[in-house]
Amino acid sequence: MSDPTASEAVRVTLGDGVLTVTLNRPDKKNAITQAMYAVLAEATQRARTDDAVRVLLFRAEGDSFSAGNDIADFIAIGASGGGQVVDAPVFHFLKALAELDKPAVAAVRGRAVGIGLTLLLHCDLVVVAEDALLSVPFINLALAPEAASSLLLPRVVGHQRAFEMFALGEAIDGRTALAWGLANRAVPAADVDAVASGLAARLATRAPNSIRKSKQLMRDAEALWALMLREGEAFGSQMSSPEAMEAFMAFSQKRAPDFSKAG
Ligand code: COA
Repeated sequence: MSDPTASEAVRVTLGDGVLTVTLNRPDKKNAITQAMYAVLAEATQRARTDDAVRVLLFRAEGDSFSAGNDIADFIAIGASGGGQVVDAPVFHFLKALAELDKPAVAAVRGRAVGIGLTLLLHCDLVVVAEDALLSVPFINLALAPEAASSLLLPRVVGHQRAFEMFALGEAIDGRTALAWGLANRAVPAADVDAVASGLAARLATRAPNSIRKSKQLMRDAEALWALMLREGEAFGSQMSSPEAMEAFMAFSQKRAPDFSKAG
């Protein structure tokens, strides 16, 4: 099947004050390409600037929330030696997330990998399936944390749990995510969308300026963006490193990476 266009792969709809962003590339487990980040960035900026939007809701089609950044994109960017550049669409999306001062809700079923999880750290109400699987395997790919997750994940779950998640790359399930404070609700997978939509609808009825000012007070948008840029330097230099190329190739060839000669 040929790849959908970015606007098919990320659908954006507005209804009753809720801007719903749906990841819709299910045959690739909703892995996110640079073109898809551009749509995500535009929608997240719109959520902040459009008065008709009260709440931003992230959800997904298919059996996975998102398998994270598209690894074919990583290979292309790494091979070009370009690393992460601040004017790349992914950074527009990250900046928009840092600056978002309206409520964001997420509905997560199945896998949430990499940015599929770190995006949740910028959401205010997170609904996960009890059997969802959340992971941040940046070090499996010889990369580094992004989206301010080097600060936000340990802040939510504690250093040791966050370090293990980054370094060993293993997934936690939805019930564990709830117990660790990463989610507000863990529900059967079939109920995730309805519960998240219900919460988004309730938030959309709240006093808009009050909720905005409250969120602004709870987050330091400038500091988050500054950290995202610092993380981007580490991520970018790793991305064109031999160890990362080995990890990307191993993924494409469906084998385990061999870091024994890295150094
Ligand atoms: N980038 C590009 N393609 C991806 C992808 C990604 N991040 N994740 C999955 N896909 C593709 C697979 O290559 C496969 O494509 P194919 O059918 O053309 O071979 C398809 O999506 C289905 O994935 P598959 O691995 O067969 O599904 P699974 O159910 O066995 O495993 C995951 C699902 C998410 C556990 C697994 O795909 C995975 O580990 N993906 C990589 C996650 C990752 O490391 N992301 C980057 C984080 S920084």
